[in-house]
Amino acid sequence: ATLDGRGGVLLPGFVDLHTHVREPGREDTETIATGSAAAARGGYTAIFAMANTAPVADNAALTDAVWRIGREVGLCDVHPVGAVTVGLEGKQLAEMGMMADGAAKVKLFSDDGKCVHDPVLMKRALEYSRGLGVLISQHSEDPRLTVGAVAHDGPTAARLGLAGWPRAAEESIVARDALLARDAGARVHVAHASCEGTVELIRFARSQGIDITAEVTPHHLLLDDSRLETYDGVNRVNPPLREERDKLALRAALAEGVIDCVATDHAPHASQEKCCEFSQAKPGMLGLETALSVIALTMVRPGLLDWRGVARVMSERPAQIVGLDDQGRPIEVGEPGTLTIVDPDAEWTVVPDELASKSRNTPYAAMTLPGRVLGTVLRGTVTHR
Ligand code: DOR
Ligand code: ZN
Ligand code: ZN
Repeated sequence: ATLDGRGGVLLPGFVDLHTHVREPGREDTETIATGSAAAARGGYTAIFAMANTAPVADNAALTDAVWRIGREVGLCDVHPVGAVTVGLEGKQLAEMGMMADGAAKVKLFSDDGKCVHDPVLMKRALEYSRGLGVLISQHSEDPRLTVGAVAHDGPTAARLGLAGWPRAAEESIVARDALLARDAGARVHVAHASCEGTVELIRFARSQGIDITAEVTPHHLLLDDSRLETYDGVNRVNPPLREERDKLALRAALAEGVIDCVATDHAPHASQEKCCEFSQAKPGMLGLETALSVIALTMVRPGLLDWRGVARVMSERPAQIVGLDDQGRPIEVGEPGTLTIVDPDAEWTVVPDELASKSRNTPYAAMTLPGRVLGTVLRGTVTHR
């Protein structure tokens, strides 16, 4: 296939609801510029920059700065996610309305990196989010995870002597946040669903009329805890890689629409923070530049999604989730001239040093993957080819 579209698949530009760009605070691992370049290479035309930066993106001055820098870079739209609570302590609600009213028009809110443990605070945050946008249910960023549990709580971790993080930790918080959203009359979006049980809870919540959406990462669709055998720190991630049956349940849920979309949870880390022993490594994996290929491998090749379905889970659904206006009406998806051209037949081998990201922590090094992004266009400007 060629960039003129012959033999290629033309898709609306991808939208990533979950990207860590590390600016401000850890510009040695990623910046808005390098993250945007990685996004463009991955076929993305919009990314949502997570709020767990240093300082935390909990105010309009900071969220507007992220939006403005993204515009200056011009490789993709960088929409800041607003932190729900103030500072790292996170005991006080942030001025969510101010962030929503700013130039960045923040629509997604989250407490990535600290999680709202207090159900009263979570309910108030949900109430505040009504009419502003969507509150993300984190569920795996429990600080205890980084000092204690490091792997999926299953037979593999037990055999390898790694402290485990149970499925129930995720499932119970997803259930709690769904019920709080119901009581608050608010919308909730489940970040990085990783368990079979989470899928069933989302299905149940929706059947009860709860306004709930969900994402899954490419790595939870492709990898499982059999990767832990080597103790390689690159495989440490929150939530942890689960078991084969979780993986298959997540694929089926994405095909069926119970899980709405793919989100990368692109989480750059410095080599010295990842190349150490498993339990010392920082959790997180790169995702932007390999996402399309991992979806081609796990969903298109087995016949779970056709390319129309790929457009739905990579672009249309994520855009709709954040694009609902104040009255909950869907706005138009996609802008003229904002698209991605994919060669469905090409295969490529992942070479970490060739990535546009500033970091190298891809779990797919040396793997040959199907599906190559040939070009990306943002409002008529070619951002990658
Ligand atoms: O593994 C993870 N790392 N998961 C997240 O959601 C956060 C991320 C990070 O910020 O490094
Ligand atoms: Zn998270
Ligand atoms: Zn994340």
